[in-house]
Amino acid sequence: MTLSAQPGKGVIGVAEAMAAATAEIDAVLQTLLPEPSGPERRLAEAMRYAVLAPGKRFRPVLALSTAELFSVPRRAALRVAVAVEFAHTYSLVHDDLPCMDDDDMRRGQPSLHKQYDEATAVLAGDALLPLAFEVMAHPETHADAEVRLELVRALAEAAGPRGMVGGQMIDLVVEHKPADIGTITRMQQLKTGALISFACEAGAVLGKAPASARQALKAYARDLGLAFQIVDDLLDVEGTEAATGKKVGKDATLGKATFVALLGPERARTQATMLADQAVAHLDAFGERGAFLRRLARFVVQRSH
Ligand code: IPE
Ligand code: IPE
Ligand code: MG
Ligand code: MG
Ligand code: MG
Repeated sequence: MTLSAQPGKGVIGVAEAMAAATAEIDAVLQTLLPEPSGPERRLAEAMRYAVLAPGKRFRPVLALSTAELFSVPRRAALRVAVAVEFAHTYSLVHDDLPCMDDDDMRRGQPSLHKQYDEATAVLAGDALLPLAFEVMAHPETHADAEVRLELVRALAEAAGPRGMVGGQMIDLVVEHKPADIGTITRMQQLKTGALISFACEAGAVLGKAPASARQALKAYARDLGLAFQIVDDLLDVEGTEAATGKKVGKDATLGKATFVALLGPERARTQATMLADQAVAHLDAFGERGAFLRRLARFVVQRSH
């Protein structure tokens, strides 16, 4: 069943729809991950350990939902959904390394470098990103090579120095330093917003959507991505390890620059809610077809994991 056709309303309905999509996404993740074999089998095992752990699959769900707006064949949308999850999981594996956030828990299990070792975690991350490009560049993703090229270019930009990695660099250099709201906003937009934007854009690229629809989705994604990271920072203060699957209270210890540190939890939550409202407003042109994306924006601020 498509995400937009899921009957439930509100956040419960979103959770059900996401669970159904997760089963579909995980089946494709399984088939596109390398099988452990040969002397390098440890690499494939580590990649599977990180990717197949119970993540929310938020970015793949976004890619599937935006692809539905333009009636993209499910098979194609799932391949791109899986590619973005590979890129995202790589970012998590490296984010947890001792030289970065030094986190021992991820997705309810020991982080990859804890379960295996640091070198394996570096290599598994290094292997996941090109795998994302390999999947998108394959003719099965789209018959039109220009579409595939556009996907590859967009992910390269979202993951690279003007995207996720650039944001991660800001995150590290401003640790234990005063940072203004402009710097924090830019950091969040790059480290988290860029991949979320890619996930939204991907459906439109696959569907050769008109420029106006792409613009609307871009604006939606910008607000959504920022709200998503603010809530991640809130969950580090107000959430639990059981619900989030990762250690909480780490941002303050590491002196991370977050909206929560700067504004306090209450104003940070108000900000996230306002951003989700703004995200929803950008979907007007889609009418009823944008209903699920609207519910996803609500989910982002109400989630506990
Ligand atoms: C965590 O992302 C890292 C951020 C960019 C905030 P998610 O909260 O989507 O993590 P998973 O995929 O569900 O584990
Ligand atoms: C991570 O932000 C953003 C990434 C690009 C991985 P965080 O460092 O806050 O993410 P968590 O809380 O470890 O998941
Ligand atoms: Mg981090
Ligand atoms: Mg982290
Ligand atoms: Mg966090």
